[in-house]
Amino acid sequence: MSEKNFYLTTPIYYVNDIPHIGHAYTTIAADVMCRHMRMRGDNVFFLTGTDEHGQKIQQSAEAKGMTAQELADKTMLNFRNLWTVLGISNDDFIRTTEERHERVVQSMFQKLMDQGDIYKGSYEGWYCVPCETYVPESSMGENRTCPDCGRPLVQMQEESYFFRASKYADRLLAYYEANPQAILPRSRYNEIVSFLRSGVRDQSISRTTLKWGIPVPGDDKHVVYVWFDALINYATACGYLDDREKFAKFWPAVRHLVGKDIIRFHCVIWPIMLLALGLNPPVCVFAHGWWTVEGEKMSKSKGNVVDPFEMARVYGVDPFRYFLLREVPFGLDGDFSELAMVQRVNSDLANDLGNLLNRTLQMMGNYRDGKVPAPGAILPVDEEVLSLIDATLATVKEKLDVFSFDEALKSIWALLGRGNKYIDETMPWKLGREGNGERLDTVLSTLFAVLRAVTLLTAPFMPDAAKRMYVQLGFSGDPLDERFPSVALRNAPAGQMTQKGDVLFPRIDVDQWKKGREAKLSGKDGAQVPDAKIPSEHEDEISIDLFKSVELRVAEVIGVEEIPKAKKLYALYLDLGYEKRKIVSGIKEFFTPQDLIGKRIIVVANLKPATLCGVESRGMLLAAGPKDKSALGLLTVDESAPLGSRVS
Ligand code: ME8
Ligand code: MG
Repeated sequence: MSEKNFYLTTPIYYVNDIPHIGHAYTTIAADVMCRHMRMRGDNVFFLTGTDEHGQKIQQSAEAKGMTAQELADKTMLNFRNLWTVLGISNDDFIRTTEERHERVVQSMFQKLMDQGDIYKGSYEGWYCVPCETYVPESSMGENRTCPDCGRPLVQMQEESYFFRASKYADRLLAYYEANPQAILPRSRYNEIVSFLRSGVRDQSISRTTLKWGIPVPGDDKHVVYVWFDALINYATACGYLDDREKFAKFWPAVRHLVGKDIIRFHCVIWPIMLLALGLNPPVCVFAHGWWTVEGEKMSKSKGNVVDPFEMARVYGVDPFRYFLLREVPFGLDGDFSELAMVQRVNSDLANDLGNLLNRTLQMMGNYRDGKVPAPGAILPVDEEVLSLIDATLATVKEKLDVFSFDEALKSIWALLGRGNKYIDETMPWKLGREGNGERLDTVLSTLFAVLRAVTLLTAPFMPDAAKRMYVQLGFSGDPLDERFPSVALRNAPAGQMTQKGDVLFPRIDVDQWKKGREAKLSGKDGAQVPDAKIPSEHEDEISIDLFKSVELRVAEVIGVEEIPKAKKLYALYLDLGYEKRKIVSGIKEFFTPQDLIGKRIIVVANLKPATLCGVESRGMLLAAGPKDKSALGLLTVDESAPLGSRVS
């Protein structure tokens, strides 16, 4: 089996935005793909990261009284933490403000300049002075006004460096004509090819109107335009300058996953940059569609932005991952609705998958003390199910090769459906009653083989649930460590002890869910308030002055880090407004990082620093909970209390 290399990227996300399902979608899709390819035995390199330069970051930092770098350092953690929560297995995380990246951007800029593909010219366009931004004709408001602030635009001209993209357009077109799989789905391919046929203009790739960017080599007045900078991340992380071996290995295998809104950058500008640099264009760019939410466009002003942290917390990471990839064919637009997710959890996960597992393990327990039997004679109906296992593996591979996640899942669910039907056909309980032991052995062994195959095939989609299924099937390792070429899927390991466990996906009661949701939408969350108990311990009375000597202040949690070897501790980064600091807190058992990020908490700011597990803690947060430490609530405060203000 020859080893293959597989390099997959997500877009790098703008750090001025809060992560939403759009970001989660691309990244989960990429994760599933990479996990699947690893199971096929490929060498995988999976990259994601953040896009940190540009006007918007600079502006929001100014508004917050921070430097752009400080703001980026803080907000990129939203993405890093989300990927941890969603179980993303990326091999690298690149930030465009890293030195390794700035060097590559400057070096590529210089190379293109030296070979005459970058020239100095002047850029003309409609400009909004208060917003300091060019507005393309297509997004102008009425009477040439700024779509953001509504003020009139002025015609501006500034010096700019241009990239000679026009020179390479024909070569790129020829590449696409020879490689129709290089842009997927087909509709996007057609769109890009006709765009290329209509001609490509040289691109302005520098700005003099902002400072927050990578300086143009030899001309500090200019910074590199944010898109020219951002696209290069894919080469930086692959070792373009620092690791030629890695670059030689993975670059010929690079694939980009992007949203449909950014395909011109990825299918026209970027491949042309690569051609100009003498590098091969991507093997494939796949453009997925956009999500609406309950039928409406997702937007901050509508307040309907779906928070992936919340979805993972309420419905579980695995159901959320499954739903996003099953609900809508990858490449098409789709609508996100929580009710649809609840229904899928119930029908696909609790019913189809949960039932096959439970029924099989129940019978294995009842008739064979939990042990997988060696099969007896194989009848045509058994053979049909066993060949479907092999066929399903082949289908899943074929579908995932073209990013058809929903089709891959459909074929796995067809196998599940066949398994459930096989139980009804063979009626193992009847075989047990009639003492037809040999036939029962074959049926149970066949069902086991179906379940193992389903576990392995769904593992990239639902890593945690698959692992729990694997344990119930009696395996000790992680299904994701298995390699398809070496597993004989149709041979069940006779003698292996299964162990029926907790229900994998509990059914959600739809009526109750609807009531809870109505209450939440109308503002009453119906939370039960437990009876207060009178505390049994009291301290001596103190004076107001003694209390005042404790400096309690409002702080926002802006980052959460694990501390190696510390089971109960987190290091928390706090913003007190006037300064940032780190504290160590023993609250890890009770909260995930996303529970904490963004919370406004109360800290004892003048507590003597202490070192816990090697980390210096400068302060202590306040929390309350029962004496037996079975629960914990954080003291938080709403936004009317500014950061750093004192509690009195
Ligand atoms: O574009 N449904 O970053 P970004 C699905 N920094 N996907 C959505 C979506 C939705 N409703 N809304 C956004 C950038 N997306 C650049 C990329 S790469 C060198 C630089 C997707 O944070 C969108 O399609 O604005 C895009 O692929 C991704 O979120 C990142 O968006
Ligand atoms: Mg965007």
